[in-house]
Amino acid sequence: MTAVQERPEIVTQEVALKLEGVTVQFGGVRALDDVSMQAYPGEVTGLIGPNGAGKSTLLAVASGLQPPVKGEVFLEGARLTGRAPQAFAKARMARTFQSPQLVKDLDVRQHLVLAFRVRTGRSLLSDIKSAFGPKMTKDERERADLLLGSLGLSDVAHLGPAELPLGTRRLVGVAQCVGMDPKVLLLDEPTAGLNQRETDRFAELVTTLSRERGIATVLVEHDIDLVLSISARIFVLDFGKLIASGTPSEIRKNKAVQAAYIGSTEVGA
Ligand SMILES: Nc1ncnc2c1ncn2[C@@H]1O[C@H](COP(=O)(O)OP(=O)(O)OP(=O)(O)O)[C@@H](O)[C@H]1O
Ligand SMILES: [Mg+2]
Repeated sequence: MTAVQERPEIVTQEVALKLEGVTVQFGGVRALDDVSMQAYPGEVTGLIGPNGAGKSTLLAVASGLQPPVKGEVFLEGARLTGRAPQAFAKARMARTFQSPQLVKDLDVRQHLVLAFRVRTGRSLLSDIKSAFGPKMTKDERERADLLLGSLGLSDVAHLGPAELPLGTRRLVGVAQCVGMDPKVLLLDEPTAGLNQRETDRFAELVTTLSRERGIATVLVEHDIDLVLSISARIFVLDFGKLIASGTPSEIRKNKAVQAAYIGSTEVGA
């Protein structure tokens, strides 16, 4: 009798986030022109391009903050275009901002509890306004501590944002997103201002989080080496247009990408 063969791991390639033909116009500026991109569960998808290329605008469209004049946003096949940002959050699309949006009077653990409640719909505003922060249940506290532990943040659970260095504040922002149990995580320049050690740690955490939790992470970054090292696929914008997409090695060799990054003849070399 032959031994029962172990089944190979089933790799789902169902798209989590799909942007189709997105166009955004700000007065005379066409910030995005017919841009399509996809992000898959468990993977980091890089989004790069020179300053003003339209990267942040594309994340704003993906999170519902910027309605496109043309084009569509789908999350796991469900159309979200035209719906309020809250509907995007409810559909488990989470994003961090270039500067972490933390509440002065709340400690790190309380920030996570607030994030958990975004999904359950429990009162948020009164929690934030209360000088004591949210009254957390035992279950919420345990969940928060588990997540903080997995992100290496246990030691700062009781500290307020003002007591934390920038790199840690960024991680708390990511922890909050993860606390919302996202399907898609949108990160806009998360390593800006971090030193090399913090950047490496951040990259490792984002890769692990995406893989272990099946999150489709979209990473906007000026640190091209970082993007090339952790992304499964990469999309490149220039002047609002998609000029390339592909694997890191394809992007490295792409002439249009090299031309867009004037002064760096070899991208990521
Ligand atoms: N709210 C706005 N009103 C008017 N123009 C805008 C607005 N937001 C962005 N733009 C313009 O749209 C274009 C794309 O901007 P965007 O911020 O998306 O670029 P980016 O790729 O994120 O750049 P950076 O790398 O500098 O962050 C730029 O020309 C910018 O000036
Ligand atoms: Mg930007």
